[in-house]
Amino acid sequence: MKGEFDMIFADPPYFLSTGNGKVNINGQYIKFDKGDWDRVRSSKEKDKFNTAWLSQCYRKLKDEGTIWISGTYHNVFSIANCLENIGFKILNIVVWHKFDPPCTLSEQRLNFSAEYIIWANKRDCKRHYFNYELLKSINSGVPMPDVWTLPAVDFWEKHCGKHPTQKPLCLLYRIILASTRQGSLILDPFAGSCTTGIAANLLGRKFVGIDQSKSFLDLGIRRRQEISVPAIAQQMRTKMAEIPEEVMVMVNHARRELREKMIETGICYLRAGDSKGSLLVTPGFERMHYVLLHTNGEECSLYKLKIGGHFQIWTKETLEQHGFHPQHAPYYIVLLFDKNNPIEFKVPPNLKESINTYRAKIRPLSHFIGLI
Ligand SMILES: C[S@@+](CC[C@H](N)C(=O)[O-])C[C@H]1O[C@@H](n2cnc3c(N)ncnc32)[C@H](O)[C@@H]1O
Repeated sequence: MKGEFDMIFADPPYFLSTGNGKVNINGQYIKFDKGDWDRVRSSKEKDKFNTAWLSQCYRKLKDEGTIWISGTYHNVFSIANCLENIGFKILNIVVWHKFDPPCTLSEQRLNFSAEYIIWANKRDCKRHYFNYELLKSINSGVPMPDVWTLPAVDFWEKHCGKHPTQKPLCLLYRIILASTRQGSLILDPFAGSCTTGIAANLLGRKFVGIDQSKSFLDLGIRRRQEISVPAIAQQMRTKMAEIPEEVMVMVNHARRELREKMIETGICYLRAGDSKGSLLVTPGFERMHYVLLHTNGEECSLYKLKIGGHFQIWTKETLEQHGFHPQHAPYYIVLLFDKNNPIEFKVPPNLKESINTYRAKIRPLSHFIGLI
C-alpha cells in the first residue's frame, strides 16, 4: 500500500488524567486534568485505541517514511508493542529530558523530568530518511545522542491561546530536521494546537493535522495566521532554533589586515569586557565551537575551534610573539581555530547590525549553516 506522508509525528493521549490529580507549579498546587480525552484507561483499552490509529498511520506513511510518537510510562509500552505487532520497527527511543520540570507531589517517587519519543520505520523499509550529518553538526560534530535536553513550552509560543499539553517548537524543530526534507508532507493525527504544523511550515514542509476538538484546531489556525506575517515567522524560526545545547559561533569583527593575520595563524583574539570589539564572556561559552571572522560585516569566513568550548587568556607579549600588535589591553581572550578547513556558509551571513556590527557576539550555528 502506497502512503503519502513522509513523516508522522503523533502526540496521542497519554491516558494519565484521573480527574482529581494535582501538580505543584512554583509552589502552587494546580488541578491536573487534561480533559476527558486523556482519562485513565485499562491496558486492554489502551492497546485497542493505539492499534487502531497506528494501523491507519502504517497505511498512510510512505514506505521510506518514519513515525515519532511521544509518551510517558502510561502509554509508551502499549505503543511500543502495538508498533511491533503492526509491522513497524523501533529505531530509537529518545529521552526528552526537561529543564525545570514541575515537582511531583508524592514523596514516594523520583521527580518526573522526562518524556519519551519512540521513533520507528516500516519493518521492510531498506533505507529511511535521516539527516545524520545535520544533527551531528548541531551537536559539536559528534553524533546526536538519544537524550535531548530541551525546555518545556515557553510563553512566546502561547500568544494565540493555550493547549493543556502543547509541545515546544524546539522539539518539533529537531524531529523535523532529522527526518524530513524541504517540501516533505507531514501528518499529526493528534494535532492539538498544531505545534507540528507550525514548525513544519516555518521549515518549508507541508502539514496535515487532525484533532477531535474544534477549539484546539481553531487555536492551531490562529497560530498559522500569526506566522503568515514574515517578520513574526522569522523571529519564531530563530527562537525555535535557539536550543540550550546548540553549538554556538563567536562572531568577531577585525580590520582587514588583522583578520588576514588571524586566518594565517589560526589565532583569533579579542578583549574581555563590554566595549566595542570585545566579548562579554557569558554563560553558554562552553557551547562555543566555531569562530566567524568578518570585516565590517563583510568578507566573512567560518572556522571550527581546535578545542570546542575552550578559550585561553594570553598576555599582549604572547600575542606579539605570534606577530600581532595588540594595543588596547594587557590581556586577551584567545581562540585557536582550524585555519585549514573553512566551513561553507549555507546562509549568507547578515552581520550588519548598525552600531552593533563591530561588537563581538555569540550566535547559534544554525544561523550560518542553513539547517532549513
Ligand atoms: C497530547 S495532545 C496534542 C498536543 C499537541 N502536540 C500540541 O502541541 O498542541 C492530544 C490531542 O489529541 C486529541 N485527541 C484525543 N483523542 C483523539 C481522537 N480519538 N481523535 C483525534 N484527536 C484526539 C486531543 O483533543 C488533544 O488535542
